[in-house]
Amino acid sequence: MAQSELIHFVADLSLIHTMAKWRVKGAWSGYKPYGSPDLYIDLARILEQGKFDGAFFADVAGTPLFEGKPDATVEWGVGWPRHDPLPLAIAMAMATKHLGFVTTMSMTYHHPFNVARLYSSIDHVTGGRIAYNAVVSGFPQEAQNFGYDTTPDHEWRYQRAEEFLEVINKLFDSVDPDAMLWDRETGRVADPTKVRRIDHEGEHFKVMGPLPCAPCPQGRPVQVQAGASASGMKLAGRYADFQFAIPWNLEKAKAHRAKLDEAAIAAGRSPRDLGVLWAYGFDVVSGPEEAAYNRQRLLDAIPPQMAMIFVSQWWGVDGFRLDPARPVHETVAEIKERNLGPNWSYIDDAVATTTPTTTMAEYVSAWMTDMPCFIGTPEVIADEMEAFHFETGANGGFMLNPRSRVPGDYQRFVQEVVPILQDRGLMKREYAGPTMRDNLLV
Ligand SMILES: Cc1cc2nc3c(=O)[nH]c(=O)nc-3n(C[C@H](O)[C@H](O)[C@H](O)COP(=O)(O)O)c2cc1C
Repeated sequence: MAQSELIHFVADLSLIHTMAKWRVKGAWSGYKPYGSPDLYIDLARILEQGKFDGAFFADVAGTPLFEGKPDATVEWGVGWPRHDPLPLAIAMAMATKHLGFVTTMSMTYHHPFNVARLYSSIDHVTGGRIAYNAVVSGFPQEAQNFGYDTTPDHEWRYQRAEEFLEVINKLFDSVDPDAMLWDRETGRVADPTKVRRIDHEGEHFKVMGPLPCAPCPQGRPVQVQAGASASGMKLAGRYADFQFAIPWNLEKAKAHRAKLDEAAIAAGRSPRDLGVLWAYGFDVVSGPEEAAYNRQRLLDAIPPQMAMIFVSQWWGVDGFRLDPARPVHETVAEIKERNLGPNWSYIDDAVATTTPTTTMAEYVSAWMTDMPCFIGTPEVIADEMEAFHFETGANGGFMLNPRSRVPGDYQRFVQEVVPILQDRGLMKREYAGPTMRDNLLV
């Protein structure tokens, strides 16, 4: 999908209202609390000024339990509250002309017909600026809101996802781009030879079609995925325009990109059809003193109660009391022994990025403040981004997560780093077209 070697940027706005980020000194200053769109609308304007391709909202539609109850999660705001991000994305779209939006849609708990109809409709309202992050939902408390006692089996979720995407694409393709007539003289609305039933009948879904929507501006909204297991990579290789990936270090990122190339080729596509947006933190500073100050400012905002609950949620080990003083490797060994964790890829990453003596508390503070993150002066950040981008195949860009404060962090990035990247010819100066697909294709 990323046909040029330009660096693309998406802003990760998923957690800016939670995980203690809302209380970092200087964050959300002068804005109404989460739920009101004010801050997000200002952010949309800032991101568009900086020629970002989009804003991303992750989503987990559940309240994580800790020791069987929602109390601690609610009390410390661990990924709670979490509204449906779609209305926010639409409010932001109304305040901008080019910025795109990636919102998350579960292929485990939703139905592809609803999703296709919803995203086609939003693509119309936003003038072609919507993408969906198609996830297989590994978080246990989400399952319990959709009729399951526990998260369904990993492979079962991926099999459903495979059929889900097949159906969704058939539905998007069930109305040809030139199907609409809107002929005032004759009263004919559409050419029936250009709209078809899909008559899909599979193991998980039975859908007649056609999609009851006029063809949407992008034809198919941009499709993003983030699964990193073998099944996740295979699915991305087959269907995704972009993948989100966590680049734990350069070597792992290169290996990840190579696997993605293989997955695209195995699915009969070119690796250039499948971009990667590496999930990175960022903190633009004037020097090491400010970097240390910002790190401490973030650590000061994180209540210790919150940190361990958060890891329990991220790893999917509800109710397993994580001891901040215990080494990560020892903790993981017990989790494996007791077979507690459905999110093995995150747990394995924790082991790979720590030493046998790193404690859970050390891991969490590093994880929440340092890893992986571009921290430095504008020139240093531009240099590091450029190097990382080209070393990993220059096929996509970055999904940037503010390390400390919104909206100030993005403002600084747009004012100080973007012009350097533009002067180096690494970032676009103008949007290429009205749709998200137009801009991501450049
Ligand atoms: C950057 C990034 C963003 C993600 N966002 C979400 C999300 O919003 N909701 C969700 O349920 N999973 C999300 N995930 C999880 C993945 O979609 C996937 O379910 C998870 O990695 C487990 O799949 P795997 O076993 O194939 O790795 C995200 C993962 C990454 C790396």
